Amino acid sequence: MSSSLTVRRIAADQGATLRELRTSSLRDAPDAFDETLEEALSEQAETFDAAAARHAASETAASFILYTEGHPAGLVGAYFDETPERKALVCALWVAPAVRHLRGGELLVNTASAWLAERGADEIYAWVADANRNAMRFYEALGFGPTGEHQPIARAPQEWQTLLVRHVKHV
Ligand SMILES: CC(C)(COP(=O)(O)OP(=O)(O)OC[C@H]1O[C@@H](n2cnc3c(N)ncnc32)[C@H](O)[C@@H]1OP(=O)(O)O)[C@@H](O)C(=O)NCCC(=O)NCCS
Repeated sequence: MSSSLTVRRIAADQGATLRELRTSSLRDAPDAFDETLEEALSEQAETFDAAAARHAASETAASFILYTEGHPAGLVGAYFDETPERKALVCALWVAPAVRHLRGGELLVNTASAWLAERGADEIYAWVADANRNAMRFYEALGFGPTGEHQPIARAPQEWQTLLVRHVKHV
């Protein structure tokens, strides 16, 4: 990992940064996410402000930002879902093209996973579009494997996504 890459949990006043990263990710990789760029662009600034404030302080949802030389360059979300088993998921993973292959994605996923594990998660889940071979290989290299669960992608119901899982090594 490059020592110039760092990850920090989002701060409550980083709504504009969240909006910038989210719209950049949807512009760059529109097929990788459930949301569309149009949906994100139509959101009010206040929606991102509220999400940043929630993700900075909540015990059930967080966002983590990747920085290179102090500049925001990537994003990942982490949350516990509302099913009875309280599944722990990472989502919305994105690294800016200029800083790929430097282990920024790995740092983001591992930081988000550690945050979930500290709050009791034994397994970390991630939905990945079947067509996104790059992300599939990336997650497999990090030790994620298929759960056997598949479902259509809401944005494009003719396309499918697979639920991956990685077991937490508690130390
Ligand atoms: C998937 C994604 C987040 C990976 O980000 P990244 O920062 O490039 O990830 P990493 O550097 O940690 O690892 C990526 C690959 O680079 C390799 N790599 C790491 N350092 C490297 C180096 N110095 N030179 C070459 N390759 C390197 C890693 O081994 C890994 O390859 P592998 O999966 O074949 O083992 C990024 O490609 C991305 O944002 N894609 C678009 C959005 C997307 O698909 N998101 C996922 C939604 S489910």
